[in-house]
Order: sequence, then structure tokens, then C-alpha cells
Amino acid sequence: MEQNKINELLNELTLEEKIDQLLQLAAAFYSDKAEEKTGPMTELGLTEDNINNAGTTLGIAGAKEAKRVQKTYMAKNRLGIPTILMADIIHGFRTIFPIPLAIGSSWDLNVAEKMAEISAKEAAVSGLHVTFSPMVDLVRDPRWGRVMESTGEDPFLNSRLAEAFVKGYQGDDLANDFLRVAACVKHFAAYGAAIGGRDYNTVNMSERQLRESYLPGYKAALDAGAKLVMTSFNVVDGIPATGNKWLFRDVLREEFGFDGVVISDWGAVKEMIAHGVAENEKEAAELAIKAGVDIEMMTTCYTQYLKELIEEGTVSIELLDEAVLRILNLKNDLGLFENPYRGADEALEAELVLSDDHRQIAEEIAAKSIVLMKNDDVILPLASQEKVAIIGPAADSTDILGAWSWQGKMEESVSLLAGAKRLNSNILFGNQEFDYFNPSDTAIEEAIQMAKSADKVVVALGEHEWMSGEAASRSDIRLPEAQLAFLEQILAVNENVIVTVYNGRPLDLRGLDGAKAIVEAWFPGTEGGSALAKILWGIYNPSARLSMSFPETVGQVPVYYNSDNTGRPYESAPEEKYVSKYLDVSNYAKYPFGFGLSYSQFNYSDLKISNQQMFIDDTLTVSVTVDNQSDTAGEETVQLYIRDLVGQVTRPVKELKGFKKITLAGFEKQVVEFEIDEKLLRYVHRNQSYKSDSGTFEIMIGSNSRDLASLTFDLIK
Ligand code: GLC
Repeated sequence: MEQNKINELLNELTLEEKIDQLLQLAAAFYSDKAEEKTGPMTELGLTEDNINNAGTTLGIAGAKEAKRVQKTYMAKNRLGIPTILMADIIHGFRTIFPIPLAIGSSWDLNVAEKMAEISAKEAAVSGLHVTFSPMVDLVRDPRWGRVMESTGEDPFLNSRLAEAFVKGYQGDDLANDFLRVAACVKHFAAYGAAIGGRDYNTVNMSERQLRESYLPGYKAALDAGAKLVMTSFNVVDGIPATGNKWLFRDVLREEFGFDGVVISDWGAVKEMIAHGVAENEKEAAELAIKAGVDIEMMTTCYTQYLKELIEEGTVSIELLDEAVLRILNLKNDLGLFENPYRGADEALEAELVLSDDHRQIAEEIAAKSIVLMKNDDVILPLASQEKVAIIGPAADSTDILGAWSWQGKMEESVSLLAGAKRLNSNILFGNQEFDYFNPSDTAIEEAIQMAKSADKVVVALGEHEWMSGEAASRSDIRLPEAQLAFLEQILAVNENVIVTVYNGRPLDLRGLDGAKAIVEAWFPGTEGGSALAKILWGIYNPSARLSMSFPETVGQVPVYYNSDNTGRPYESAPEEKYVSKYLDVSNYAKYPFGFGLSYSQFNYSDLKISNQQMFIDDTLTVSVTVDNQSDTAGEETVQLYIRDLVGQVTRPVKELKGFKKITLAGFEKQVVEFEIDEKLLRYVHRNQSYKSDSGTFEIMIGSNSRDLASLTFDLIK
């Protein structure tokens, strides 16, 4: 619809209808079963009019149901304005892919884009228009349950992946490509920095840190065209994001140039009362509308008080009109005025959702996200003639979808055992129910007997899905004690043990030190067990690299690779007493950012730079030779880090500034090059300006953030 028509439509709306456009309601309010509506309506004090005019809805899916809701909604809406159907499609719709932290470990932008594209396709034919994804909150604290939803601890990698997600969700013609959905980047901002890793807790950091580490991911998603932004539950410098004018009007809208829709997180407008910045819902409404929050999700501060606030002159009608206009523009950008059902299509739904093709891609993506953490004595890959026992609580578990897998079904998932049986008949497996926390003696005894008679033993351990995700912070990031005790019993009877782990966060894996191999499978999604089995038997060569550090112990947290040197650096004198360290553990992550093994053997050599000096407009070329010293073809992620040795503020000991995934055949070598220009050397100064300084820089290249070759050059401005 032409813009002038949208503006005319805005002017036809009554004040009440404008205010209702700002309300987002969950599926229950649109149920065709009256009894499902009455409770929620009473709870929120809503009338049928509010529901018929609420601008958007969340949590409705299914082509038939989506069409019914839209048809009913438009029939009851005085001007026939369509609603927008939104939902959390975080790592797949019905075909569930690995959790985003696993996608982050793939370091593969094509993987991220493909996952988003398929998620969008399945969601779109099922009637959805918007997904509340990508979540790009930078994370450094594995106690936080939502690290599973992030792509990790690095701003550069998070930014590249965010761009890929948005591209996959939205495509390049959202108004006409009905197999895409609009992306909503979240949670703005810095939700991942909750103190203590405790969900919904306070965030406290300098503006400089916020800009340097936390904002780049959101900005990248917006620069890639994300249509919506969701507010975060936390405060930013003492003011809840949802009422933070500086964050949303000055930074997001003015600086970033975002003129799309801002939606609150669930209940976040009203929660400003609990935060202690609003006396009541009226004040919460005022804070939010003045901050530029367009849609209030599932509370009614706007519905109840915006009319009064406008009539008494506290809030200008212009603020309401601009919010409504952004919502109407989003409906128009989605093509809903012409095609209110968009992609909803029962036939396509039946054909595409959970299709074999999607399952196959989900398996390939899972295989690219699984990290080989340890492989002593090259115990992996398994050989087909070896007798292998697959035991433990996760051996035949389909609890492998992970949090935020709304439409996914465990019964449609492939367990490790099921995947292994497809590959190999030489497998031992018991039938005892194996509890994650309290396995029965018979189950343990049966497993021990099997381990005794096997050549190699796969012990499958892990967290339950509900142990990560929203409102799932853990103070202790080890595996359940019973699982570690069980592993010791198995190690006592067979030394050839491989441990696989399903988990939604970096864990303290010290309890697995007795195993010869450790395979980090995350929550790998619908085809995860098949992918894991194919990794174990070498059909896939593991290529993933951690995008979040695994600490030795939770006591080190936060532990992240791009840390500051401090005035008493541990690295240079770990034995010294008076350096920045712990008495009882090293400063180092047990498995660092960028780490992951392969069945190939990659060797780095011959690091070179085209010039020792860089002038402002120069581009230097850095090259390294990567040599596959094995007969096994494999994929390597060559990582480029840079350190600014002297800045106007302290600079991290290294920062990821580039990466390249290369595939090398057996005994093949390749020269890999990176272009370095002055833009890569910029950082946020004390006065918040983003620029580079003259001086010496260190370039580091390698297979992870710890094992690196380095050289230096000078920037001369
Ligand atoms: C939740 C989450 C948010 C999600 C929203 C809608 O509380 O914080 O990520 O998109 O509510 O489900």
C-alpha cells in the first residue's frame, strides 16, 4: 500500500483504536474456544474491542489456525486492518536445528543463514509473519541459562552470524517472498551481562564497554535490515531498557538510524514498577512510550493509561501516532494489506514442514556444530568392526532439542543410539531406564557389564533441556554428580571411553578427565543423534570451534578470551604471587574460545605480512600456510586476532578480527590471506568516539584463541 494510504489509515483510527494497535496478545485471546479466553481476558481486564483491535499477536501457528485467526480478526476490525502473527522461532520451527550457541560454534555463516531460511520457510507456510530472533546478546557467564540462545562471547563473530540470521529469515524481498519472515533482534541491550549469570538480574557497565562489546551484534542485525527490536528485561545504567530513552531514542533511533518497530519483552513495560522506576502502570506507560517502545507485549499499561496521559497532556498524540505508524508500516512491509494470510498454506505446510530435505540439512548443520574437545590416543573415529557399547542417561535420549524449540517434538528426534544403529550393528546397549540424576543400580550394573565386553565405550551424558534457557540459571555448572560417579565406574572396567555431552551452556568438564575423548554435542536438534553418531564413526569430520569459553570451574567466571592484560598480568609470571590470579586454579579456560579438534591434523607455518608499516589508507596482507598433515580431508577455521599494544584505554590482549573456513584434502596445504585495513584497528575511546590510534599492533593467526603465531606492524597516521 502507498505510504500516503497508510498515513490516511492512521488518521481514520480513533484514539482507542490507535492505542489498541500497540497491544500484543498471546494465542489464548484468539482461541475459538470461549472458555480459553475468559481467564486471560479477566486477568488483563480486556474487552472484546481490545482483542479485536490489538495490533499484533504471538504464539499462534498452523496454516489453518493462522488463517482462521486473521479472517476473524479482520472481520471484527472496523477498518479491516490485519494483525501480525509473531512467535519465537529461535533455532527452527518444527525441524529443530542445534541451539544458537552450537550454530555459533560452527563459525559458518552459510549454516546460520540456511538454518534461518528453513526456519522461516516452515514458520511462514504455517502462518507466521515475524520471528523473535536473532538473539544476539553477548555472553560471558555460563551460569546464565540463555547463553544457549546466543552465538557466544565475541562481538565480531556474533555480528557476522547476526547478519546471516537476518538474511536467512528475511531474504531480500520480504513484502513478496511469502516463504520468509521478519526478524526481531533481541534483547536490546546487554541482557547477557546479568550480574552473577542470574536471569533478569541487574546489568552494570560503562557506556564504553556497552558500545565496544555489547552493541555491535544488534547494530549488525539492524544494518542487515532486521525489522524489529525487542527490549531487554534488564536495566542499562540504572534505567530499565524498556523505559530507557537514551538507549532507544538517542542510540537506537538517532545513532543507529532505526525507524522500525520496538516491541517490549513479555511484561517488561509493567515490570518497571518492580524495577522501582514507576509508581504504577500509568507511569510505566509514560516511560515506555517516551522511550519509543511501540508494542507492549502482554501487559496493558498502554491500553489502560495512554488515553488519559494524552488527554491530560503528559504524552503528546504525536508519540502515539509515530508508534502506530511504525506498526502499520511493518504490516505494509510484510504485504499484509494486500495478502493478510501471506505464506499460510496447508498444502505447502504438509510438504515442507519437517520434510526429509529439512531433516537432512538439520543433520548436516548439527554435524558442523559438534565440537571434538579431546581425542587422546586417536580413539576416534570408531571403526565399523569395533564392538562399541553406548550407555548412560543420554544414550537413547531424545531430550536433545534444547530450550526454545516450541513446535519441535522429542518423539520426532533421532537419539544417538538410533543414529548409531543406522550405521553399525556391532553395538551394545541396555534397555534399562537411565535417570539423569539418579540411575538405578540395575541400569548401572547392566551398563558396567556391557562396558566390560566392549572394545570402546561411548558414555552419553548431559543436562536436561530445562536446565538451560530462560529462567534457568545454574550456580554449579558441572554435570549431575550421579553421572560423574557413573563415569568413574565405567572407567574402572574399560579405559577406552568416549564421553558425549548434551548441554545448553559451557560446563565445568573436569569430571570427564578420565575419558580419552570428549564430544560436545550441545542440544543438536531433531537429527542430532544421527549427526553425533556420524561424527563418532567418522562419516563427518568434526569442524566446529567453541564460540564461548569453557571454564575450569565456575569460580573463574566470567572467563573470556578477549580480556584485559591488567597491571599485573598472570600470563607473564604465573608462579609469581603478586599477579592477577587465583590461589587454587589457573586463569585459563579449560577449553578456550575458538577451540575444537579435527580428525585431520592442521599445521600452521610461514606467517607473513606485506609491510611492517601501515599508513591510514593502506591495506596490508597477512598470510599463513595451513598444512593438512593427515590423509583425512577436513575443514579448518583459520582465525585472525589483533592486539592494540597501547591505546587511550586499556585494550584486550586479543580481539577476533577475521576468520576463514577452508577445506583441505589429505596432505594438501593452502596459503590463507587476510586483508588488514585501518578500520579493523578502531575502538571506542573515552569520549565514545570510534577511531584508531597510531602505534604498534600484534597480529595473531591460528586454529583457536590460544595457539597462535604472531608478528607486529605499525600504524602511522
Ligand atoms: C520471553 C523472552 C523473549 C521472547 C518473549 C516472547 O520472556 O524473554 O526472548 O521472545 O518472551 O515469548
